[in-house]
Amino acid sequence: MRLLAVETSCDDSAVAVLDQDGNSLAELVSTQVVHSSHGGVVPEIASRLHMTVLPRLIREVLDLSGTSLDEIDVFAATAGPGLTGSLLVGLSWAKAAAVALGKPFLGINHLAAHLHIHRYSAVEFPAVALLVSGGHTMIFRVPSWNQFILLGTTRDDAAGEAFDKTAKLMGLGYPGGKIIDELAENGNPLEIVLPSPMGNKRTPEFSFSGLKTAVRLVWEAGNISQENLSACFRKTVCDLLVSKTMYQAGKLSAKSVLVAGGVSANSLLRSSFDFECRKRGMALFVPPMKHTMDNAVMVGRAALSALENDPLAHSESSCNTFPRWHGEILSPLSY
Ligand code: KG4
Ligand code: ZN
Repeated sequence: MRLLAVETSCDDSAVAVLDQDGNSLAELVSTQVVHSSHGGVVPEIASRLHMTVLPRLIREVLDLSGTSLDEIDVFAATAGPGLTGSLLVGLSWAKAAAVALGKPFLGINHLAAHLHIHRYSAVEFPAVALLVSGGHTMIFRVPSWNQFILLGTTRDDAAGEAFDKTAKLMGLGYPGGKIIDELAENGNPLEIVLPSPMGNKRTPEFSFSGLKTAVRLVWEAGNISQENLSACFRKTVCDLLVSKTMYQAGKLSAKSVLVAGGVSANSLLRSSFDFECRKRGMALFVPPMKHTMDNAVMVGRAALSALENDPLAHSESSCNTFPRWHGEILSPLSY
């Protein structure tokens, strides 16, 4: 069985072909660098670029995997959350291909997809999952692959957004997470103490907007280097993410901790989780670097998971895009 997955929720066009065991036979991501000069993603430009790039990407991935389009058994694409114009390009393409070839189509939740990057790893349950990206910061209780129960989210900015805004403040590029992470390696994380809003580790909720204001005031006062401010900011955010996730993991006697989303590329976040999980004898799952960012392998694995749960699982042809997700239990399939 071969599945073709498409991801176009934001500014990355991604396509992958997977086999029934979740192995990636071929995968490509095309990142739209044009947004960096605008200091953030411009939705109109993003959707137009997906329109241009996606057909070529699909052709290349099919060639790389040695598969022809009519050998694809299932089509999957991200339905949301994300930018409507961007989502429409990938979703419409996958739907149209499925209808034309008489194959099933699955619309996939992008948040569930990020977490399903670990779907074919040896995860033991119960687990606790942290989804941390440019748009989301969420902790889930995970009794099995079929249930991601939301414990808490952010009240304002997402962690990745806070990284991006801090980078913008210091006149660095977009997206800023990687740049801050690199600068922080040469900075002193103890140079100043930044506030930790909603800092109680027992509260599985986050707030980053107060931190953003504090960072701005410190930067505008002008007595700190980019390296030191990056290090202090990174430490504050990582401490919040790790302490809250590990508290829930301990409380729920988790055997595994899953981390996913763009910010899971952060080197301090990865080493801190590694240290804390080793200390408690819990298994840690962080994606390989190329799968921390938006990719289509995660979309494909989420679709395979839905099919494993119900071999007849599919989305209706009326399946629409959605900009935000407001549920309590996260599931891969969008109808
Ligand atoms: O998951 P993702 O690719 O897109 C969304 O679904 O949002 O995440 C992108 C986010 C951006 O905010 C980016 O700055 C952040 O991930 N990011 C990082 C790092 N690499 C990417 N944040 C902190 N440290 C990094 N090394
Ligand atoms: Zn994402």
